[in-house]
Amino acid sequence: RDALAALIASRLRDVPDFPKPGVVFKDFTPLLADPVAMRAIVDDAVARYSGEVDVIAGIEARGFMIGTAVAVALGVPFVPIRKKGKLPAATFTASYDLEYGTETIEVHQDSCREGQRVLVMDDVLATGGTAAAACELIERTGAQVVALDVVCEIGFLRGRERLGGHRVRSLLSI
Ligand code: PRP
Ligand code: MG
Repeated sequence: RDALAALIASRLRDVPDFPKPGVVFKDFTPLLADPVAMRAIVDDAVARYSGEVDVIAGIEARGFMIGTAVAVALGVPFVPIRKKGKLPAATFTASYDLEYGTETIEVHQDSCREGQRVLVMDDVLATGGTAAAACELIERTGAQVVALDVVCEIGFLRGRERLGGHRVRSLLSI
């Protein structure tokens, strides 16, 4: 585990039985509260993706926090991918299965242009359903997904396998 992964691991708090009994929630708020750790994440993304991406797309809600910080640092536009019903203009919509029921996310149809290189960002990759739907939405705009970049990947849930050919990068794998 490298220094950045160790720093991130030290800033994620395990909260047992949230949002329901038996689930251990990875609480991200200590990371957001540490500007040194946030700076390290942003600097890492800038070093890796500078010149390689035209747009950052962030997945509601914590993907907004990482994604906007990285977009500003890279000097590229930020595009929000939101839960259904939140975006005001014309959207593309994608649904995916949750443990119970389904979730639907959306992106503005005019958020990206054909040929743009888009980096999709979120806090956690678990089963991969959210990220796969997000990548599908970006591709429907005509843009291309350069990679999915997450702070933390829960390896045993094999989310990567749901992402087809997309490049996946996580700062911390647990
Ligand atoms: C969590 C997390 C990822 C997603 C990962 O979001 O922030 O977005 O789950 O899970 P998956 O890989 O199994 O799809 P959640 O759906 O809890 O919503 P939130 O970010 O709005 O809290
Ligand atoms: Mg989420």
